[in-house]
Amino acid sequence: AGALLVDQRGRTVHDLRISVTDRCNFRCIYCMPREVFDADHAFLARKELLSFEEITRVARLFAARGVRKIRITGGEPLLRKHVENLIAQLAEIPDVELTLTTNGVLLPKLARVLRAAGLHRVTVSLDAIDDATFRKMNDADYPVSAVLKGIAAAEDAGFGPIKVNMVVKRGVNDHGVIDMARHFRGTGHILRFIEFMDVGSSNGWEMSAVVPSREIIERIHQVFPVEQIEPNYTGEVAERWRYSDGSGELGVISSVTQAFCSTCTRIRLSTEGKLYTCLFAQSGHDLRTLLRAGASDPDLDRAIAAVWQHREDRYSEIRTANTAGLRKIEMSYIGG
Ligand code: GTP
Ligand code: 5AD
Ligand code: SF4
Ligand code: SF4
Repeated sequence: AGALLVDQRGRTVHDLRISVTDRCNFRCIYCMPREVFDADHAFLARKELLSFEEITRVARLFAARGVRKIRITGGEPLLRKHVENLIAQLAEIPDVELTLTTNGVLLPKLARVLRAAGLHRVTVSLDAIDDATFRKMNDADYPVSAVLKGIAAAEDAGFGPIKVNMVVKRGVNDHGVIDMARHFRGTGHILRFIEFMDVGSSNGWEMSAVVPSREIIERIHQVFPVEQIEPNYTGEVAERWRYSDGSGELGVISSVTQAFCSTCTRIRLSTEGKLYTCLFAQSGHDLRTLLRAGASDPDLDRAIAAVWQHREDRYSEIRTANTAGLRKIEMSYIGG
């Protein structure tokens, strides 16, 4: 194993997030708005995607450089054919926590297979607990029950407690914050409220649509008193809170109002094999060409090391209305 990788701001790489498909069965308005991701949208062709063997090779090299957490994302990762085979390959890498973020609707079909393949945890996205609002958010006519069945299937397969992510967009689903809290408190699952971010360049982000986490917590506190709790580890993305009456944990992810770049130890591998050192990067570093040109492990390791060592990103600390309009990589290519 090589030495630990340290970037220009003293951060070591710890998390690798891997997007396995740019497709999704949802068209969430903040991620894949239908006007952009329509019938004419060109998704990546099969040969452009990294194969499971290519992904696993890159993941092993990162693990040798200190990565201890791998998250499978998309698009919707469960749309990638036989993703369980990738999970099985990645599960053989020692000392790595293996997790996956999904919209949940394919979990009734796949939760058991994923568990058997060696997946450790799943995080499920759910933006509302009432059908009308949820349909507005996913823009693909999925009912809330489809996701709740997925969460139940994940629990039955042994994945509990499950983290549930809700992206909050003012005027669209923020009226449902209390109802979501009410639904998930006491279930053992951990609901996290995420500030709407200016990922990509097609979601029409405006600061006015962001509900600051402070405000979320204040609103919940008035109905269900909550208190803050200690992070599980330094650099944890979500701030942790608990209901004072003992009915469980919740969290807020405040990438807009309280940037956490100074402790950001994440790198992303896109569907087509580019490394992105920031969720808001304007370009990535192509690994696929190297992989397919017969590069050796030491060659690849050198390339990976150089990417991380040059890294200076701190986008959320310097975000303005102007940077929000830059042409950035879309979320569906690099996952959350
Ligand atoms: P666990 O603690 O293992 O569950 O991971 P986590 O808290 O990092 O959760 P997860 O990976 O599901 O991230 C939750 C959400 O936080 C993502 O879907 C993103 O919306 C946001 N997020 C995660 N990482 C970053 C990041 O590096 N930068 C920004 N701006 N947002 C992030
Ligand atoms: N702002 C905040 N969160 C987002 N996600 C996707 N797009 C955005 C955005 N623009 C969330 C999804 C999912 C996770 C992968 O990232 O809802 O929970
Ligand atoms: Fe699909 Fe997730 Fe993006 Fe929604 S947020 S469109 S479920 S990838
Ligand atoms: Fe990391 Fe970029 Fe997010 Fe900052 S904005 S926390 S550098 S991914």
